Amino acid sequence: MKIGIIGGTGFVGSYLIDRLSADGQALRVLTRPGSEHKLPEISGIEAVPGDVSDEAALQSCFDGCDAAIYLIGILREEPGRGITFDALQRRGAERAIAVAEAAGVKRFLLMSANGIDAGATPYQTTKLAAEEALKASGLDWTIFRPSVIFGPPRGRMEFCTQLKAELIDSPVPAPLFYTGLLPTNAGGFELGPVHVEDVAAAFATALSLPESSGQTLELCGPDTWTWKEILRAIATAAGKPKKPMLPAPVMFIGPVAGVLDRFSWFPVTRDQLTMLLSGNTCADDGFARLGLASRPFAPETLAYLAPEQAAATARFGDRNDG
Ligand SMILES: NC(=O)c1ccc[n+]([C@@H]2O[C@H](COP(=O)([O-])OP(=O)(O)OC[C@H]3O[C@@H](n4cnc5c(N)ncnc54)[C@H](OP(=O)(O)O)[C@@H]3O)[C@@H](O)[C@H]2O)c1
Repeated sequence: MKIGIIGGTGFVGSYLIDRLSADGQALRVLTRPGSEHKLPEISGIEAVPGDVSDEAALQSCFDGCDAAIYLIGILREEPGRGITFDALQRRGAERAIAVAEAAGVKRFLLMSANGIDAGATPYQTTKLAAEEALKASGLDWTIFRPSVIFGPPRGRMEFCTQLKAELIDSPVPAPLFYTGLLPTNAGGFELGPVHVEDVAAAFATALSLPESSGQTLELCGPDTWTWKEILRAIATAAGKPKKPMLPAPVMFIGPVAGVLDRFSWFPVTRDQLTMLLSGNTCADDGFARLGLASRPFAPETLAYLAPEQAAATARFGDRNDG
């Protein structure tokens, strides 16, 4: 099968490329200038230069393909550089869907995210709009909605590595966010962390499973973890099991995050806080629908956070990190 991938040079994309290559698929990957080094040096991968705003580049990427995959997503906007949720998660996806359909591509897999039905942030509303555009197309579609994704980062931004760097390695106590006036359940909101290789397996399996057509698949790990448990697991994996943690009222942090949203050094955006606090667990098991099982969030799967491992997996192209 020939597959055109948009967003293949990122964290999830790097694992998806590995998995699809191992399955013997021929891949075309839209590659932005400067990101060429992020593609692995394995045969069967063709880099198509361009940006998602470039319709001709999308046409080159999808021409003659059996399937298209759209992975682009961001957490922080930089409007001055044209990096907005609307441009990349809605309009980019809509453009890719239209180009794929016009190019005669039959199958389209869209990366969305769990919890977006809340429609509470631009991240969520633009992902929802992309889903609607795909459903309204004539393409044979599958939508994936993962919770937070973890795994060796390969030099990209990754949930646990980011929390370790910004909250665990920091000299101040890690924040157990809570809403309301009293910290009775500080850090008690729940997430379903899912391993990046399992997410890649879900995409790869869906391509060969006709029953996955027209399905929206929620992807969570096998267990639900509270924020507090996740921070403790990351701290332990990072060799800091006694890291102090303190209740942190969102009432005060939210407005600060709002003001500091534009600075990439501030650890969390206001929208990220909103989405974390509303929880991120799955109501349905997308892996089971595909006949798959996901691996746990556990010391074995978090070993990459150990100080000696963390340096190795920070490099691009490190493939010995699973
Ligand atoms: N990671 C998670 O925990 C998580 C959880 C739920 C859902 N998701 C979704 O999963 C998807 C992949 O996430 P990720 O963690 O792999 O993100 P990532 O590492 O930031 O990768 C983003 C990808 O999009 C590409 N991209 C960005 N702007 C582009 C543009 N203007 N034109 C062309 N390509 C562009 C990037 O290219 P460059 O390499 O050139 O920058 C990269 O390939 C996103 O849709 C995200 O919302 C992620």
